[in-house]
Amino acid sequence: MKHRISSRSHGCGDLRAGDAGASVALCGWVAARRDHGGIYFLDLRDRYGLVQVVADEDSPAAARAALQGLHPEDCVRVRGRVRLRGPEHRNPSRATGEIEVLAQDIEVLSRCKRLPFEIADVLEVPEELRMKYRYLDFRREPVRRALELRSSANHAIRGALAQLDFVEVETPLLTRSTPEGARDYLVPSRVRKGHWYALPQSPQLFKQLSMVGGLDRYFQIARCLRDEDLRADRQPEFTQLDLEMSFVDEEDVWGMVEHVVSAVFRGVKGAEPPRPFPRMSHADAMRRFASDKPDLRIPLEIVDLAPVAPALGFRVFDAALAGQGLVRGMRVPGGAGLQRKQIEELEQAAKDAGAGGLAWCKVADDGQTSGPLSRFLQGAAGARFLAVLEARAGDLVLVIANAARRAYPALDVVRRRAGAWLGMNQGPDRLLWVIEFPLFEEVEDGSWVPAHHPFTAPAPADLERMLAGERAGVRSRAYDLVLNGTELGSGSIRIHRPEVQEAVFAAIGLSREQARRRFDFLLEAFEYGPPPHGGFAIGLDRLYALLFGAASIREVIAFPKTATATCLLTGAPTPVDPEQLAELGLRAAAPPPADPA
Ligand code: AMO
Repeated sequence: MKHRISSRSHGCGDLRAGDAGASVALCGWVAARRDHGGIYFLDLRDRYGLVQVVADEDSPAAARAALQGLHPEDCVRVRGRVRLRGPEHRNPSRATGEIEVLAQDIEVLSRCKRLPFEIADVLEVPEELRMKYRYLDFRREPVRRALELRSSANHAIRGALAQLDFVEVETPLLTRSTPEGARDYLVPSRVRKGHWYALPQSPQLFKQLSMVGGLDRYFQIARCLRDEDLRADRQPEFTQLDLEMSFVDEEDVWGMVEHVVSAVFRGVKGAEPPRPFPRMSHADAMRRFASDKPDLRIPLEIVDLAPVAPALGFRVFDAALAGQGLVRGMRVPGGAGLQRKQIEELEQAAKDAGAGGLAWCKVADDGQTSGPLSRFLQGAAGARFLAVLEARAGDLVLVIANAARRAYPALDVVRRRAGAWLGMNQGPDRLLWVIEFPLFEEVEDGSWVPAHHPFTAPAPADLERMLAGERAGVRSRAYDLVLNGTELGSGSIRIHRPEVQEAVFAAIGLSREQARRRFDFLLEAFEYGPPPHGGFAIGLDRLYALLFGAASIREVIAFPKTATATCLLTGAPTPVDPEQLAELGLRAAAPPPADPA
């Protein structure tokens, strides 16, 4: 322990052979207790480690009795003397393994009732149980370690940014709707009945206002709240490292983000990734990997088969091409060794991603193909098809034919899954900037939405086209940072000219009135000399989960929520008293369903 606490002299992990003879006071929890023929042992644990306490014939009878009466996870204070263990009793796998503490006095500070699960590093219990008793989970070394690592990584970030003149600004949680495109969490106002706050989906608008205010360099480790469908790497509330800078272009922002991410890598892993991080245009990422967040550790690349597909006479391919769709595929070296069941799983994954199916074949040592696609691959047309794929003996060939919107996700998922099965996703970390994102995206109902958010600037080369009303193919100044196939963060250079902003609102179908209603305060601020500016936000939960090797982002969040956005520990969300609703001027439309018991 770095500074004295009056009730204890050391942390449980601090004592070494050099402390032999010292009188110490330790506080902690009972990790284990053993009796060896009248000698009583206790493993005492706190955040700093584990130490063996012993009560033998040299200890006062009261201390022996107290130790004998301890249960797992009782909270105790031990006073005693450090002594060297005999050579045969040393435990080299423990930092305190050369010594033990001979108990003089054992004080039970509080008792622990029967535990819902054992406090062990490796634990086979349902995650729900751990989350219900998350405070007990904290007592486990891997969980405590993740929280400590997160804390020190946050310190590294603050240190790196403070040195570079960034100002840490805390922005409001009770605010108005922000433009990230998810559903808002709303909070009713008691004072102005019928009025609502929205919890921020990100501090986007406030950080832009900070730039108008001349702060020049803003950052915040900010909580963001989004009511969206949850996936493995999403939480309803999560944390961003949020940045904004004035008078910058893309290179300035990328350089700054690389500086901070490298500081985190250095702090956590002891080594930095090579800089500058590689870059790839969004168009290239989609063409080569069918994803805007490709996992570059997987070497499989997508091949456009449209030029050679028509000659095969396969109706499914012809239909896709006739409907302006894609026929694309990949060779999976060594994939011929995958089992039938695995290929069926790939087929199912492609279907789940929206494709009608997955066409596939294996290539044998003699060059012969087998599998559903092989009957279309006879003769010269088939040979050309395989040649374009560069298929070789031992390969599995996977082909998707569908509309682009369905084909890309299907190609992406089969590429990732086949790559993972073949152990291709094990290499060193691969960071990647995906740049030149489109400005707009067409959604299922034919309307256009901002691909990032509506304050993102169009690429200068496409500005005229955008101002003339074009949407398809207009590129933006937005960029993402990707680590091993996960989107770590997003950002953009922002619009600071009113006529460009108006054109973007018009392109996404927001009338001047609607835009004013949603963003009046921001648009007004932009009439007071806004500087050119841009920024970025890194999803810290995702970054830490990847860096710490955690199984999910929940493992690096102190008190996470489930996939249905509930907190198992507190039981939130819960019904509230009718009086509380009345005070807010609200009435429940229906009584809440009874809790499943
Ligand atoms: P964006 O919406 O892309 O950009 O979010 C930035 C990063 O935040 C993380 N993230 C999430 N992490 C966990 N759970 C979620 N539900 C979740 N949603 C997003 C991701 C993502 O890349 N204001 C802009 C940034 C900017 O333009 O500067 C923004 O929020 O890692």
